Amino acid sequence: MIKLNEVNSTNNYIKERLNELDNFECVFTMNQTNGKGRTGHTWVSEPNKNVAMSLLIKDDKIIKNFNLVSIVTGVVVAEYLETLGLNKVAIKWPNDVYVNEKKICGILLEGNIPEYIIIGIGINVNQTNFGELNASSIKNEIGIKIDPALVAVDINDILLDTLRHLDTNVNSLIERYEELDYLLNKTISFSYKGENIEGIAKGIDFDGSLKVLYKNNLINVNTSEVNLVRKA
Ligand code: BTN
Repeated sequence: MIKLNEVNSTNNYIKERLNELDNFECVFTMNQTNGKGRTGHTWVSEPNKNVAMSLLIKDDKIIKNFNLVSIVTGVVVAEYLETLGLNKVAIKWPNDVYVNEKKICGILLEGNIPEYIIIGIGINVNQTNFGELNASSIKNEIGIKIDPALVAVDINDILLDTLRHLDTNVNSLIERYEELDYLLNKTISFSYKGENIEGIAKGIDFDGSLKVLYKNNLINVNTSEVNLVRKA
């Protein structure tokens, strides 16, 4: 694992060194100055309190399962948080990890298929103040300060092991995802074929897409923005 005192973005660090870095190299920092989120958002994290890590995947077999990689990463982080004693851990499709209805981890996958995938993971560990954001941290949930470097090493080990056995584990991963699924049976809105529609989330498919019940049909959704519709 490459540990950096400071970096703009661990995902970018890998992107700029794709040829030098080996398959499964992991980059970690507690001081990410320009973190990237999904759909053009930023990922902001107080210095020296949290985990920012990225894992480089160059393995063809894993890259073929791009959509599942995203799902697997969410499941690994969620299960890890449960082992630390956090309650009410859930995954909001595709891979945001929530605890007690607050976001605790964000995952950003970037890549150029079939060459590589970068799995970027941000986990709030010891930060306690999130201002206006609906967010939480390990410290806020269990009251204990944990070394972010240990969290990164643990997640890296478990994630690598799970990815290496992806082929044989798809069914159990999907089952596990569905147990953790924050959206299951909830009404969601999203854009589909140019229209903004509402449907009921019904779990995920083998390719990692979201199954949605819409006008009595199950459709598969792969859009990046799915919103929960809060019924009055
Ligand atoms: C999101 O929730 O929008 C995804 C956030 C992803 C943040 C992580 S932190 C490590 C890696 N490097 C980045 O610049 N972003 C990801």
